[in-house]
Amino acid sequence: MARVGRDAENVLLHGLRKLEYRGYDSAGLALRNGHGVEVFKREGEISRLVSHVGREKPVAEIGIGHTRWSTHGPPTDENAHPHTDCTGEIAVVHNGIIENHGALRRQLEKTGHEFESDTDTEVIPHLIENGIAAGHSPEEAFESTVELLSGSYAIAMIHRGEKTVYAARRGSPLVLGIDESALFLASDVPAFLEFTDRVVYIEDEQLVRISASGYTITERGDEIADQPVVRVEWNGEAAEKGGYDHYMRKEIDEQPSAIRQIVGSHAAADELLDIDPAILDGVSEIQFVACGTSYHAALYGSFLLESRGIPASTYLASEYALHNCSIGENTLVVAVTQSGETADTLAAIDAAKRAGGRTLAVTNVVGSTAARTCDEALYIRAGPEIGVAATKTFSSQVVCLSLFAAQLTGDRSSALADALASLPGDIQRVLDRSKSRKIAARYRDREAFFFIGRGAGYPVALEGALKMKEISYEHAEGFAAGELKHGPLALVTPNTVVFAVFTGHNDDKLLNNVTEVKTRGGTVVAVVDTANEAVLEQANDVLEIPETHPDVAGLLANVQLQLVSYHAANLLGRPIDKPRNLAKSVTVE
Ligand code: M6R
Repeated sequence: MARVGRDAENVLLHGLRKLEYRGYDSAGLALRNGHGVEVFKREGEISRLVSHVGREKPVAEIGIGHTRWSTHGPPTDENAHPHTDCTGEIAVVHNGIIENHGALRRQLEKTGHEFESDTDTEVIPHLIENGIAAGHSPEEAFESTVELLSGSYAIAMIHRGEKTVYAARRGSPLVLGIDESALFLASDVPAFLEFTDRVVYIEDEQLVRISASGYTITERGDEIADQPVVRVEWNGEAAEKGGYDHYMRKEIDEQPSAIRQIVGSHAAADELLDIDPAILDGVSEIQFVACGTSYHAALYGSFLLESRGIPASTYLASEYALHNCSIGENTLVVAVTQSGETADTLAAIDAAKRAGGRTLAVTNVVGSTAARTCDEALYIRAGPEIGVAATKTFSSQVVCLSLFAAQLTGDRSSALADALASLPGDIQRVLDRSKSRKIAARYRDREAFFFIGRGAGYPVALEGALKMKEISYEHAEGFAAGELKHGPLALVTPNTVVFAVFTGHNDDKLLNNVTEVKTRGGTVVAVVDTANEAVLEQANDVLEIPETHPDVAGLLANVQLQLVSYHAANLLGRPIDKPRNLAKSVTVE
């Protein structure tokens, strides 16, 4: 993040706290004041940096800051950004990975540069230093350095001699915020949303310069005068905890309103979705690409399409290019990504485009790279999601994909439409009556947690396991229930808890799998509607969901599983919103 305007240190620290969900193993600031460039860095969370800066009276008007998710070198004070050159006059922050840093570093070391960190980033200030030593201005040296870098980056740089921040972008997000009296650069809008909602999205290969007199954007030497200034829809309050202990819990509770928002904003008279219908012309096959929770939402969407006769396949975005899929003129590649900035997903979109594919982004972030790169964007309108664990955005993605399936197949069966209309109320009932805390307390000391399901229950089982492992650090795995007997059943002991997700898709067979678990001494917690008496008889414990359409039941079951993981993690004292080793937006491949 970078700031030009009064009180830079406090504003930067505030912004870094808002960005902490992107990475939180170390943080730092570089401030330009009358004497030069002052650098503060600390391993650990931003609160440690705040005490380190410890200044009552802000003095800087220009600064850059960073909160890190380590790629090169462990989280230490030395590896925290900003990084400086040998003179200490240049400071740089960087997101992404400089892939040729090894060769650049060797060259720089041979010519006498001394490095203080293990990071790929540190080559940048030393290269800029070389440019300035060769007689270039800081701006020229910055530009020529950027040309030497391969990989992905959003970089910001300050120099002691100028009241200016220089920045560049390739493959990592960078957004400019414009306030009456200040300018900001950040990886994401919440960093400065409290001050302004007017933003300019910086494109790949563009360079930006911000100073007290304004900003300029250039691309390959040409000034871009007409890059649009847009207003973001989110407000600062939506990105606050609002009295909750954790963002995750707040975001779980926001699911009814998030779903009302989608159904309200997309339900125009003739079209179910607020997208250009041309993107769907003649489409007869869908390929989904996504990662993590979004991959599970895509699997759910794929199931809905296939069960309505539309061929659909789902790829982990990081594997997509290796499959060399054939993309016909009637194939639509759908990238599902909350942030719209996940590097693996962006790479899959690029692969699809290179193969001549039509692309649609299903994303939460207006103006994100995925939204701008794909031919069309379908917004899930869930509002900001700050907890690293995705919750409300999974539900909103699946609801959007249900509407997408209904539009593509022309299947507007009233049963499904009614179930979607009742979904916010049904989720609210789950939230109000859930026994998830008791279940979490009862079983939190068990050795392993398995999640099984069939049909739409299968992606929900995968998602349940991901949530559990991600925030509680307990061993958890999700399986297609039918697969248990092909291997994983060997792991089931009296110390295992198996959550079985009943959605109405092959429930009888799922019940067979439940009895197989019980025969081996495992405990079964069924997530099921209470009309299903056969299941109630067999299960050791039950998490109830209201009766609904089988294609929607998985969403209700998922809310129960989100709550179980949340309570388990809370009882175990885990840092729920910022689980170890993870980041919300994974902008490296
Ligand atoms: O922003 P995206 O949806 O593309 O992120 C993909 C994954 O990194 C993400 O869903 C991750 O698995 C979740 N934070 C897990 O809760």
